[in-house]
Amino acid sequence: MEYNIPDLVKKALEAKQYAYVPYSGFAVGAALLCMDGEVVMGCNIENAAYSPTNCAERTAVFKAVSEGRRGFLAIAVAGDNNKYLAPCGVCRQVLLEFCSPDEFDVIFVKSETEYKVVKLGSLLPFAFSSADLQ
Ligand code: THU
Repeated sequence: MEYNIPDLVKKALEAKQYAYVPYSGFAVGAALLCMDGEVVMGCNIENAAYSPTNCAERTAVFKAVSEGRRGFLAIAVAGDNNKYLAPCGVCRQVLLEFCSPDEFDVIFVKSETEYKVVKLGSLLPFAFSSADLQ
């Protein structure tokens, strides 16, 4: 399905402003595009105990799934370091739970005009997934 990548990139950059990052100071924003065209935004939310910290990508996925959404087309992710931001390993695994490895686009955002688009499957080869439990 066709969608507007620059719009999704802008929303990931916008989502960054809500990041709760008192420990790392590293704000991340994500914008998850649902199949009905809705965009669900997420930011990273840190915690004094460190390990409960939730990445921006997982915030967006969990918000969407908890609102009854299941079909997703793409996610754009923007960090705070003027580099292409690639999702961490845990977020890749969570995305794979709900998104097609061959269809779903992951957009690494560096700035409003600089980004890279890759398929989810390329980020998590030889993944363990629900198919392995059958
Ligand atoms: N972080 C994300 O939100 N997404 C990623 O894919 C990488 C890391 C957050 C977690 C933590 O709050 C901060 O960035 C520094 O690791």
